[in-house]
Amino acid sequence: MPVLRYALTAVLLVAVVAGCGGSGSDSSRSSATQVIVDGDGAFDDVKAILYLLEQPDIEVLAITMSGTGIGHCPAAAENVSAVLERIEAPDIPVACGRTTPLEGNNEAPEVWRNATDNLGGVDLPDPRALAGVGAPALLAETISASDGIVLVALGPLTNVAEAVEAEPGLLDRVEMIYLMGGAVDVPGNMIDVNPAAEFNIWADPHAAAIVFDTDVPITLVPLDATNAVPVTPYLYEAVSAHRDASAVSQFTADYLDATPLIGGLYHWDELAAVIATDESVATIEDRNLAIEEEGGAQAGATLESPAGRVVRVAVDADREAFEDHFYQAIIGTGDTGLPAWEPDASLTWDGTACSYAGPDPLPDLLVVQINNLGVDPVALITGAYAPGTTTADAEALRASGSTETPEWWKQQALIGVLAGAHDVWFVEGGSDITALCYLDNTRFWEIAGPRLTD
Ligand code: RIB
Repeated sequence: MPVLRYALTAVLLVAVVAGCGGSGSDSSRSSATQVIVDGDGAFDDVKAILYLLEQPDIEVLAITMSGTGIGHCPAAAENVSAVLERIEAPDIPVACGRTTPLEGNNEAPEVWRNATDNLGGVDLPDPRALAGVGAPALLAETISASDGIVLVALGPLTNVAEAVEAEPGLLDRVEMIYLMGGAVDVPGNMIDVNPAAEFNIWADPHAAAIVFDTDVPITLVPLDATNAVPVTPYLYEAVSAHRDASAVSQFTADYLDATPLIGGLYHWDELAAVIATDESVATIEDRNLAIEEEGGAQAGATLESPAGRVVRVAVDADREAFEDHFYQAIIGTGDTGLPAWEPDASLTWDGTACSYAGPDPLPDLLVVQINNLGVDPVALITGAYAPGTTTADAEALRASGSTETPEWWKQQALIGVLAGAHDVWFVEGGSDITALCYLDNTRFWEIAGPRLTD
């Protein structure tokens, strides 16, 4: 078997968005909370924006897109602008930010970025014209004109930090930043690069440090909380069943059709947006956090440190409460009419042993939830033994110290899952396919399918 290699949640390869009605600049809603969204145009950003737009007590005043995250600029900004047009949202200025981090050169793989740039190919009208200013200027204008505003930050903090550098007191008018980013008590999701870092902070650690150095109150929504809200097929089924409810549900359904779930996705940004409207969906604790700025690709961790600043950290989330809010906004009802979702199979690593509950042998296709309750990454590997392979071959591998894939194992798929995560994946099986719970070449266990014999 191979050395485990993990891509920052294959996730982001599955580009995308979703979409009506709600807020915008309706002056009749004088008591609405005024909000700016700063994001990076990824799969979850768009759904988070749609969620906020649908809140009757939220007025989205501006949307800024970072060019240093998953989407490129201007593609990310144009996509959001086209989505606003498609769902007939009020006029909300959308602006684009710089394409390089303030410091360093951490960047998502181009393949993810390109996949995000067309939102999976979902049908979109021509975008509305972008704001005549760049993202930092739009942030500054909007914040300065407000009496108090909430910033929902869903991507790298490049735009916000650039605006702060130009006007150091700018964030004094911001009541709270709800920030999707970081990993506090759990590993990050840049594990091949920097296992301690989460993408949004990793992509521009200096920008994050600049924002952390201000006095603005921050509620962080890190992987600790988002690990509780994996994307499951339920999202697809629920939205599809209510696709005709509104322009938003129609758009979201089309978008999901265009970007089928493979696995490993979480409602990262949607959870941050929901927490911004109702903190009771999360467990929030004060922590002292600092941003690790040194080390290039090794930078970007959110570290507990006495030298850090107080941050309100969402350490957990209530999945059902989150879903109630989210579906209410996207499909117009928290009651989807569907039975609660259950995976076809589950694999749980508790730090010592693997337990599997599900069909054996494997059907041709199954949806598996992989719960990693340990402290190391764990993987579900599928493949087939070469004819004649015996338990002795497996024991010899365990004893050899080799990290190579043995010639007697024809691997089909390797799904790596980070400690603390609850990934949901589609897995191809079949009667001849063996599934292994795998930590390394000395620790692997057959969990379904044909077993080795002596
Ligand atoms: O690590 C998850 C974050 O990375 C999310 O904000 C997602 O949109 C991507 O930017």
